[in-house]
Amino acid sequence: MRIKTTAATVGLLTILMGSTAYAADKLTYYCSAQEDWCQLMANGFQDATGIKVNMTRKSSGETFAQVKAEGSNPKGDVWWGGTGDPHLQAAEEGLTEAYVTPMRGELQDWALSQAKSAGDRTIGIYSGALGYGYNTELLAKNNLPEPSCWKDLLKAEYKGHVQMANPNSSGTAYTTLATIVQLFGEDEGFEFMKGLHKNINQYTKSGSAPIKAAARGESTIGIVFMHDAVKQAAAGFPIKVVAPCEGTGYEIGSMSIIKGARNAESAQKFYDWALSADAQALALKVNAFQVPSNKSAPTSDKAPDLASIKLIDYDFAKYGSSDERKRLLKKWDDEVSTLPQ
Ligand code: G6P
Repeated sequence: MRIKTTAATVGLLTILMGSTAYAADKLTYYCSAQEDWCQLMANGFQDATGIKVNMTRKSSGETFAQVKAEGSNPKGDVWWGGTGDPHLQAAEEGLTEAYVTPMRGELQDWALSQAKSAGDRTIGIYSGALGYGYNTELLAKNNLPEPSCWKDLLKAEYKGHVQMANPNSSGTAYTTLATIVQLFGEDEGFEFMKGLHKNINQYTKSGSAPIKAAARGESTIGIVFMHDAVKQAAAGFPIKVVAPCEGTGYEIGSMSIIKGARNAESAQKFYDWALSADAQALALKVNAFQVPSNKSAPTSDKAPDLASIKLIDYDFAKYGSSDERKRLLKKWDDEVSTLPQ
């Protein structure tokens, strides 16, 4: 049958083709790493592909909550960065899409094991160890001893001097809670969190805020990923970075494609690109000192050397599971955050 081309059919075809092209040419990108890195990744991808990126930065727990709230009407396409636990929880709750990237052969084992435990619904993009940093000038000014262990942070003289994020919004703070529970056992771990609570001056929304406050001299000690503390030291602030003596946990920063993504093709392109050595090398331009998941991507010599830090065998499957994360957060809300200080 010969289709008679009329002005109306041409118009309809143009609209249809136009909308397909439009759908493939944009990306709604949720980012949970540090703001400057999020922005650089957005610009880098836009420059590399011409795909227009619309970026929102929120902490890991907050992005998880947003993806969940939007579950029946997804607005985001790809979620890049932030600690792996909420990405694993999103995978378990069916909020993210399985995708097997052709980049697998270039990645570290820890990045692939993250994918394996989530049925390919997430993958590792960087890793970094938890610790804390302190402002050496404020410490000296307040005649405080130099802390070197987790348990040092319970000392009464640090009252009002320690800052950490809220584990509900922040993946960094959830990693702290899960690390303390794994290091000391649940009962002693919660006693530790209650003791720490007495010394906390503020629970921030974002994980890296406590060390930015210490760098500005607004607070003395910040519990953060060590690379976030190194970033402030590299910027010239009087920050000393501590790998706690008892040992510490770590994160596998992760990336996931949102289930029902409107721009699924762009999301896959971003996913593959973000795993390339070139894209991961952008981290060094913004002093993001995490360890990259692409084996050929450069790691800065300022990055904390994970091999020389006493790392626990962090149980990602357990602490990234939906039931355990909800249970621990509720317990922290009920038993720790409500205590007087
Ligand atoms: C910082 C760290 C990242 C981490 C992220 C989590 O940006 O550099 O390595 O993944 O915090 O953020 P959140 O605000 O959720 O603690």
